[in-house]
Amino acid sequence: MCHMTLCSVAQRHADGRNHISHTCNIRLLRSRMFAAKREPFRSTPLTIAESPNPLLGRYRNTPGAPQVGDGGCEPQRKDSPFMTSPMTSLFDPLDAGDLHLDNRVTMAALTRQRAGEDGIPTDLHVEYYSQRASAGLVVTEGSFPAFSNRAFPGQAGIATDEQAAGWARVAEAVHAKGGTLVMQIMHGGRTSHPDLLRGAEPEAPSAIAVGGPVRGFSGKAEGGVPRELGTEEIPRIIEEFTSAARRAIDAGVDGVEIHSANGYLLHEFLGASSNHRTDAYGGSPENRARLTTEVVAAVAAEIGAGRTAVRISPEHGIQGVLEDDRQDVLATYDALIDGLNEVGPAYLSVLHKDIDGDLVAHLRGRFDGAFLLNSGFSKITGQDEASHIVEDDLADAAVVGRNLIANPDLVRRWRDGLELNVPDQTTFYAPGAKGYTDYAFAE
Ligand SMILES: Cc1cc2nc3c(=O)[nH]c(=O)nc-3n(C[C@H](O)[C@H](O)[C@H](O)COP(=O)(O)O)c2cc1C
Repeated sequence: MCHMTLCSVAQRHADGRNHISHTCNIRLLRSRMFAAKREPFRSTPLTIAESPNPLLGRYRNTPGAPQVGDGGCEPQRKDSPFMTSPMTSLFDPLDAGDLHLDNRVTMAALTRQRAGEDGIPTDLHVEYYSQRASAGLVVTEGSFPAFSNRAFPGQAGIATDEQAAGWARVAEAVHAKGGTLVMQIMHGGRTSHPDLLRGAEPEAPSAIAVGGPVRGFSGKAEGGVPRELGTEEIPRIIEEFTSAARRAIDAGVDGVEIHSANGYLLHEFLGASSNHRTDAYGGSPENRARLTTEVVAAVAAEIGAGRTAVRISPEHGIQGVLEDDRQDVLATYDALIDGLNEVGPAYLSVLHKDIDGDLVAHLRGRFDGAFLLNSGFSKITGQDEASHIVEDDLADAAVVGRNLIANPDLVRRWRDGLELNVPDQTTFYAPGAKGYTDYAFAE
């Protein structure tokens, strides 16, 4: 039997915008429209994991719930206040936890390496982020919570009061233009070059090299073998994320996105290829999901779940975190999402190359909060793809990177059908204003 789909009704308010305010059951219409637009659904059997978690209590488990590939119907959708109506567009607002998004074009976290050795955001950061304030959500570059886990030269941090003061200026400028600012917090794990770390050694779940280059002040080098974190060090890692989140909120940032994607520390814990631990943070899928869950729970306890978000990138195959066993991926991310659902973060942002595929549909169905989606690096997210994500209900909002680098006023350009600036890849990580704050606004 097909799982029922409930979706929200968009109400037009006096301000002329659609607000998602209550739900009604229009499942037949939705599922027919959805089915008509999608490829036939591929079948992949699932395993639902269950595991005790000392911080969160028992992960919720739903044995017997409909599963991906159990035949003959579109991906299941949970009843969710975030579900979109057939009329929902990229330009409609969305409430995600405590975050109010004016539209569903969200700016992806984008490392731009414009800070100095001190990691303090500068006037350029203030200008860059405030230029992009019309995106429904502005997510900052992945920022380091402690000098011992910095991942790139030029990366801004949220480890000190001086860095927080810099971010306070960014937040103020984004807010002055009506924007919402979320800070991505990332621990670089084994991707850190030792010369970034002020004497600390790169640390990781296991002593396994990244198998590729890392970037330091002295240039690129082959990543060395990192130091395996002791179990007794895990509370320190969690505390670094938590105090960074507190600092960000105190600086006026609206929320934080915990980076558990793209091959950095938390993703290294999730992946079997990078995590060979034998303690409670390694081995089984549930154990590998534990650190991200605990970080998110601790951050949410500190700043509120409605201001806490998470990014994941299952099967991205990046920086040596290889997730090529679908059963293991399902078990790991099911455990993670069940843990997250206990906490209730504002949103889950997913990077996956197959946005129409069964894994993404499954993750969306399992997660209780707002779901944001991006297809990764192979193709720049264009308006067609972003609209497809929202209008065809693959997610509640689209995550857009390179087009927002090149078009600070992207939302207006897409809404009004204006021509786009083309991103210049050579200046993505170059210092200074060129390719950072000098992209033109449309006339
Ligand atoms: C220059 C650059 C820097 C990036 N930095 C980050 C980052 O700090 N954190 C992150 O989660 N993803 C990062 N990404 C990935 C983007 O968030 C996004 O997933 C990717 O650019 C694909 O989206 P797009 O096609 O819209 O650009 C980066 C991508 C680029 C191009």
